[in-house]
Amino acid sequence: MIALTTRRFLQTAGLLIAGLVLSACGKSEPPATTATTAAPAASAAEPAPAPAKVYVVGTDAAYAPFESQNEKAEIVGFDIDVVKAVAAKAGIEVKFVNTPWEGIFNTLQQGDRDFLVSAITITDERKQSMDFTDPYFDAHQLIAVKQNSKVAKFDDLKKLKVGVQTGTTGDEVVTKLQGKNSTNIKRFESTPLALKELEAGGVDAVVADNGVVINYVTNNPAAKFKSVTDKAFQPEQYGIAVKKGNTELLGKLNKALADIKADGTYDQIYTKYFGAKPDSAAAPASAASK
Ligand code: ARG
Repeated sequence: MIALTTRRFLQTAGLLIAGLVLSACGKSEPPATTATTAAPAASAAEPAPAPAKVYVVGTDAAYAPFESQNEKAEIVGFDIDVVKAVAAKAGIEVKFVNTPWEGIFNTLQQGDRDFLVSAITITDERKQSMDFTDPYFDAHQLIAVKQNSKVAKFDDLKKLKVGVQTGTTGDEVVTKLQGKNSTNIKRFESTPLALKELEAGGVDAVVADNGVVINYVTNNPAAKFKSVTDKAFQPEQYGIAVKKGNTELLGKLNKALADIKADGTYDQIYTKYFGAKPDSAAAPASAASK
């Protein structure tokens, strides 16, 4: 009996010691970082390093050349390249998520998106509910009409049916021109839908950002559109939007934006999409019309 008990004791003790040694070895393998994690986490099965945060970037990817989806459903465009370059500089990881324009700002509030890049014009009104980086692009509104249209200036749209994307600065200027209660303003959930309606003859004009109008007119010759500008259109600037008060992220993005402007990366991206460097023309997107 005694011998058995002793043997059992020794066996058990041996196993215990072996276990301790093994676990000690196991623990000593990962670098010191494990020791800095909280005690409960250390007992988890896998001492995997904390995954780097992936910043979720919302964009309404129906706004070429700034953001759109290619044949492989990848989100591409000027804004995307800018943010990728910014992320590389800031040392952060990003993931783009196609997000409808209507409600895009809510996704920031709710924390579903960490920041937004979507050819978003910095406006005083928007600044009340979100924060913007320094501007990264100059823009203005532009009118798209059929080539045979008599529209020659913005004021000519006063009594016409005009298509806009809901809640954009294009919507704002047309609403101001025609009045809040105008029934001639046709609001669409995307700018391409408004342009399709112009093609179909359902509206007489579309008002949207110059870069997008020029891109569409150029790439859809069968639509037989032309663009009409007006000096009444105020200069606009795009910014990247973060949740109000997220100064830490804002600082990182601003620093990285300045870096890509300083080292030529920004100019390279700009030239890729618009064919010339930003300051070489007064209207940035005009180069795309050639
Ligand atoms: N710049 C305009 C605005 O801020 C239009 C932006 C629309 N962007 C988009 N991806 N649909 O209102």
